[in-house]
Amino acid sequence: MPATEVLTSSTSATQSLPGGRILRCQVNRPASGGPRTKARVGDDVAEQGARRLGTLAVLTAVSVVGASIVKDLLQPELAAAHETPLFRLNALFLVLASVGLAALQRSGSVRPQTLLDLGLVFEIAGAFTLAVMENVIPRPGDPIQGSTFVSAWIALCSLVIPNTPWKSGAAAFVSAAMVPGAHLFAAHIAGYAPFPWNRLASYSLFPLFVAGWIPFISTRLHEMQKELSRTQDLGSYRLERLLGRGGMGEVWRARHRLLRREAAVKLVIPDLLSRMGSGERQHMQLRFEQEAHAIATLSSPHTVSLYDFGVSDEGSLYYVMELLNGMDAERLVTHYGSQPAGRVISLIRQACESLEEAHDLGMVHRDVKPSNVFICRLGKRADFVKLLDFGLVKALQSPGQVRLTTQGETSGTPAFMAPEQVRSEFDVDARVDIYGLGCVAYYLLTGTLVFDASTPMAMAIAQVEQQPEPPSRRTEVPVPASLERVVMACLEKKPEHRPQSAAELAGLLDRCTDIPPWTPADANRWWNLHRPAAAAGTAE
Ligand SMILES: Nc1ncnc2c1ncn2[C@@H]1O[C@H](COP(=O)(O)OP(=O)(O)OP(=O)(O)O)[C@@H](O)[C@H]1O
Ligand SMILES: [Mg+2]
Repeated sequence: MPATEVLTSSTSATQSLPGGRILRCQVNRPASGGPRTKARVGDDVAEQGARRLGTLAVLTAVSVVGASIVKDLLQPELAAAHETPLFRLNALFLVLASVGLAALQRSGSVRPQTLLDLGLVFEIAGAFTLAVMENVIPRPGDPIQGSTFVSAWIALCSLVIPNTPWKSGAAAFVSAAMVPGAHLFAAHIAGYAPFPWNRLASYSLFPLFVAGWIPFISTRLHEMQKELSRTQDLGSYRLERLLGRGGMGEVWRARHRLLRREAAVKLVIPDLLSRMGSGERQHMQLRFEQEAHAIATLSSPHTVSLYDFGVSDEGSLYYVMELLNGMDAERLVTHYGSQPAGRVISLIRQACESLEEAHDLGMVHRDVKPSNVFICRLGKRADFVKLLDFGLVKALQSPGQVRLTTQGETSGTPAFMAPEQVRSEFDVDARVDIYGLGCVAYYLLTGTLVFDASTPMAMAIAQVEQQPEPPSRRTEVPVPASLERVVMACLEKKPEHRPQSAAELAGLLDRCTDIPPWTPADANRWWNLHRPAAAAGTAE
């Protein structure tokens, strides 16, 4: 099971989230097949374009059927021509292709950009099919005056399907080239004499002109869409790159527009909010707001700094924090394996400092896990720990404050949740964070979770019922007995058997004097060896 399963809120609906996470909410709503969070720049445009393409496909299918029936009624002399296999097969192909494309878009199984590329193939196939259907009946020898419907088709597709100018232009030209091709093909199958070359050229001229406009129109559209995406940036910050996704939303690398300062922006998935009922949304907003306020009151250097907080025009909740240069503990273990005892002590000791301040202010983190323990390069210091995501903080001592975590509600990540948290006990306290730190230490030492379970529920049950195996039995790397004792003490089922505070845990770690300390020189050596870019102070 991934180390980042998330279990929040209490009862009914279970929702899949990216990366195998789950989110449980109190209000019943249909389980969805894993909403992909919208990337904010570019992907938004692709997603909207894909939706428009789905609509175009549906309208094409309806129009082909509807127009054929109405035309036959208005001009019975056409009905015979429309009964030919050539017309019917083409009409059927266009309807099926349209329905297939619409279904593909609805299923959400194809990435929006891939769908847009498929849309260009649809445009070309549609141009050919429409031109064949137009040419089923031989034309009398009159000069060509009007234009083929394919001209309108090319213009329509180019406006509806956003893509890069060169792709849109190429698709438009190939579609225009289908016109003479389809005429010759239809003439051959239907057995009539095709246009002489000058009429064929005249017949093909207008679609070619339309195709000629497309690169210009598409370039302008592309610029407008990019501008639109930019306006969706948050407040004074421009979102640059997605850093990662979590249970509640996404984290973006961002830059202040005026100060040019780099930052990290965490935002709650707008899709997720829009699917919630108003009460649930309000609950989530309060929770998020509290997270921002909680972080803002903390001043430990080992707690991530908060710069800004707000709600975007679209209703996404976001906060802006310092951009950290390094990696979280989960990534450290997945990329570099289990860590030496001295280093684990140094990392957990720093996390204790952050929690000590939070606990003194009456806050419980409740989601201490490897992905929320960030190990960074800060100025000249390597291996500097920053604790992230006081997202599920419960204010213990603010009279009159709304209790955002109600009784019977479970918040946290099963693999790192204390037994009393799993049991949704109302009065969980700072000792759940001590348990969480124990799980993180275990993970850093062994590279494995404390319990081996295949589902979040099995993991939650194991947290309550199963005794953990000592870390030294889970790894070939030596785990000194003194540290093992501290880790096992943190993992005690009963809170009163654990170290009672972060300060006490820090003291116990300080007393593991038999373990060679992880010195600043060790840390620098590690970063220079494994992460030279980060070691040079360049954000990765
Ligand atoms: N301030 C930051 N600077 C750099 N990277 C960050 C920062 N905050 C978070 N990240 C990275 O972004 C990724 C996503 O973080 P996020 O907190 O959304 O996910 P998570 O911790 O896996 O889940 P959860 O939402 O339950 O906390 C993490 O892997 C983390 O390393
Ligand atoms: Mg996190």
